[in-house]
Amino acid sequence: MRIAMLGAGYVGLVSGACFAEFGVEVRLVDTDAAKVAGLREGRIPIYEPGLDRLVEDNAREGRLRFTTDLAEAMAGADAVFLSVGTPSRRGDGHADLSYVFAAAEQVARAAAGPLVLVTKSTVPVGTGRRVREVVRAARPDLPIEVASNPEFLREGSAIGDFMRPDRVVIGTGDGPGGERALAVLKRLYRPLYLIETPIVATSIETAELTKYAANAFLAMKVTFINEVADLCERVGADVHDVARGMGLDGRIGRKFLRAGPGYGGSCFPKDTLALARTAADAGSPVRLVETTIAVNEERKAAMAERVVAALGGDVAGKTVAVLGLTFKPETDDMRDAPSLSVLPPLAAAGAKLRAFDPAGTGTARQLLPAGVHYAANALDAAKGADALVLLTEWNEFRALSSARLREAMRGDVVLDFRNVYDPEAMRAAGFRYHSIGRP
Ligand SMILES: NC(=O)c1ccc[n+]([C@@H]2O[C@H](COP(=O)([O-])OP(=O)(O)OC[C@H]3O[C@@H](n4cnc5c(N)ncnc54)[C@H](O)[C@@H]3O)[C@@H](O)[C@H]2O)c1
Repeated sequence: MRIAMLGAGYVGLVSGACFAEFGVEVRLVDTDAAKVAGLREGRIPIYEPGLDRLVEDNAREGRLRFTTDLAEAMAGADAVFLSVGTPSRRGDGHADLSYVFAAAEQVARAAAGPLVLVTKSTVPVGTGRRVREVVRAARPDLPIEVASNPEFLREGSAIGDFMRPDRVVIGTGDGPGGERALAVLKRLYRPLYLIETPIVATSIETAELTKYAANAFLAMKVTFINEVADLCERVGADVHDVARGMGLDGRIGRKFLRAGPGYGGSCFPKDTLALARTAADAGSPVRLVETTIAVNEERKAAMAERVVAALGGDVAGKTVAVLGLTFKPETDDMRDAPSLSVLPPLAAAGAKLRAFDPAGTGTARQLLPAGVHYAANALDAAKGADALVLLTEWNEFRALSSARLREAMRGDVVLDFRNVYDPEAMRAAGFRYHSIGRP
């Protein structure tokens, strides 16, 4: 089979490389000519474990090609996928669909014959219908069947998630065109039948909404345990044990019950917001999601206040070391990362910031205040620090020697916003140790 994939970002590049690994001929198209040129020379624009190998292998075998030429990429394709960005629209929080509609129109204009056009980007319910209108307006002569195939991969474990998904959701239209699109998509995902991956075949609207409902639920789960963590701090309970006791209940499940500094990333913040806007417009507000958004925003801001409080109420002239800047480990993605809410107010209050992140520094430099010093490693960041804040739980921070940390620092305050360290051990090592929701 052959597909074209528009957008060589976190989703397009991973899904494209994984489809190629399944044996599909994949043409990855991006409007960013520098990105395409780099990919052709084997430079991977993002940090995602295992992706360099997968891209290299499949490019060498000729199954994965990169181009800016859409018509060339679409020649002979069984399906064309859109995996372009859908960021928050400035001002109102609706998903900005301009990239999706522009890409859909480009596809329609470049199409040489009948086509299945699949939206993999996360798009609000109703977008499929609008994509169909865009396509029809551009090419009334051509039968182009629109479908929805939302992507559930997580950055940091994207390849495993794509290759062994919990399910694949496919939304198609009515009639023979819809059936044809469903058949094409099922054929593409056939390698997953071997591992008995459930295929959820639905209408386009249902597929679109399923993606938002899943993300909003996970964001709500994280926010719930964060509020429970705050309560634990007030009443002397341990959120780690509460989460374990809750999560072992099969109806609840253990995942996404880790208390922390608030969710960030390229999906939860914008997707919860977009769902709340869509629901309000439809006259069916999702108040739990609205509250989740507000609680999470307050939480991220409150993390900076915790640092200030731990340093006696004033950080002016004090040095704060920050470990981890990306929104989670094993990615270089800084979009809506908690670090973007924590570092700027500290800098504004006069703190000297020394930060280290294994992969995110390049992007962080463009997003964080100019005065931040980027250290070479964790111990270098800790040098002379009055306080150390652990913001992202990269594995390499777990095994840091507390003795060497204590030696490197001037002060003794550690704020572990990911509950990575053992409170007893940290206190025994001479730290004034603060974590989230633990006594
Ligand atoms: N990042 C994730 O973890 C994740 C997970 C699931 C779903 N999603 C969804 O997938 C979509 C893509 O997200 P992402 O993180 O990969 O975005 P991204 O910003 O990393 O990548 C988007 C790419 O699309 C390219 N592009 C824009 N317009 C184009 C066009 N007309 N033709 C060809 N290329 C074009 C851009 O140059 C960019 O390289 C979003 O809707 C997102 O919500 C993301």
